[in-house]
Amino acid sequence: MDQNGNNNRASWGSSFGFLMAAAGSAVGLGNLWKFPYLAGENGGGIFVLTYLIIVILIGFTMMLGEMVIGRKTQTDAFSAYDKLKKGWGWIGGVGILAAFLILAFYSVVGGWVLKYIVAGILNAIPADTETYFGAFISAPVEPLIYHGIFMLATVLIVARGITAGIERASKFMMPALFVLLIISVVRSVTLPGAAEGLAYYLKPDFSAFSPQVVLAAIGQVFFSLSLGMGIIITYGSYLGKEEDLAKDAIVVPAIDTMVALLAGFAILPAVFAFGLSPTQGAGLLFVTLPQVFAAMPLGQIFGILFFLLVLFAALTSSISLLETSITYTVDRFGWQRKNSVVIVGLTLFVIGILASLSYGVLGDFKLPFLDLVFFDALDWITSYIMLPLGGLMMSIFIGWIWNIDEAVDEVKSSSPFHLEALWRFLIRWFAPVAILIVLITGLYQQLIG
Ligand code: PHE
Repeated sequence: MDQNGNNNRASWGSSFGFLMAAAGSAVGLGNLWKFPYLAGENGGGIFVLTYLIIVILIGFTMMLGEMVIGRKTQTDAFSAYDKLKKGWGWIGGVGILAAFLILAFYSVVGGWVLKYIVAGILNAIPADTETYFGAFISAPVEPLIYHGIFMLATVLIVARGITAGIERASKFMMPALFVLLIISVVRSVTLPGAAEGLAYYLKPDFSAFSPQVVLAAIGQVFFSLSLGMGIIITYGSYLGKEEDLAKDAIVVPAIDTMVALLAGFAILPAVFAFGLSPTQGAGLLFVTLPQVFAAMPLGQIFGILFFLLVLFAALTSSISLLETSITYTVDRFGWQRKNSVVIVGLTLFVIGILASLSYGVLGDFKLPFLDLVFFDALDWITSYIMLPLGGLMMSIFIGWIWNIDEAVDEVKSSSPFHLEALWRFLIRWFAPVAILIVLITGLYQQLIG
């Protein structure tokens, strides 16, 4: 690589390839599993509205910021910050650690998805999906096996570098997921009793508004858009100098948000139609959708296909999560790629065991202060603290420490930048101030209030 990092470094074959990879990382369990249950837990419509506002004001701003840093520096997240301003690599470092911790519990949920494919094939999911799911995740051994298989699959893909195949597969898997999601939505919203769920999902109840709702929404925006972890920096570093960044920073969040909204439409109306509780948390997808499938012709086949595509979406996200740690150990410490994948993968498997067991035998073991089981604590610390904090640091870095004019020039070097004035304001003032306020008030409420 030369001084500018431009020589013989791979770049995306096409603008479409980059968009698919970025969208592939973004669209995952965050959209299909997490968004609907967070909406359910946080008052429905009010959460959705808050989420949309944050995606537009902060999601777009951060996405463009990461793309700019990536393309400008053409290197990994840690080195990127360091290259722009000596001594600031740690911002990227925090993100890498967050990605590592997220993968530990992400893989457990990936395992749940696998289980539902197997159970679908065996036609083993009974009408009482609540009891079934509860019994499965609290079992001592079975969820660990599925978690192990999911982690192994992630490790194998990253180790063998067959991401090219994944990219090719994405081109039809992602659209297929979209189609199946829409069919599920149609079934869900036409169930008798769905109207109440639709109202819950779409009509904001302003009395349910609280700093915690905003904190949940902001954390989810970062999680769902794969922000604050250096992933978009890494992907952006492979971008050609002709790419229209300002456009990409709108398209990727738009795709991601559409999938999340559709998942909510597929799940929440059905929750009410079947008399389930929208606030039951992490099991919502697994408890609700099998009942939706049971209520449609060829539901078994449909359900298997659906969870297969969810698995695929989860894998395209988990490989990006793992790749971050691997690139870091390889580039900074000169580890062999294969060794790094094995070591990091095994470590994650072990941490994931603790996460998985926290729905079973470790259920009484709560972390001090947070009063959360290990799984929830991992999720909480990453989504509610590390990612927003990473975003806060990045906006301060671009707006005040590096050089906002250089950042703007980087966007303009390839295309007109109509939103320049807006972006300058958002990244320098709005994003840091808003994130700081949300962090402080949300944390205060959660920990003390
Ligand atoms: N955005 C992914 C999802 O919504 C998860 C993810 C988070 C992937 C962070 C990469 C980085 O499922």
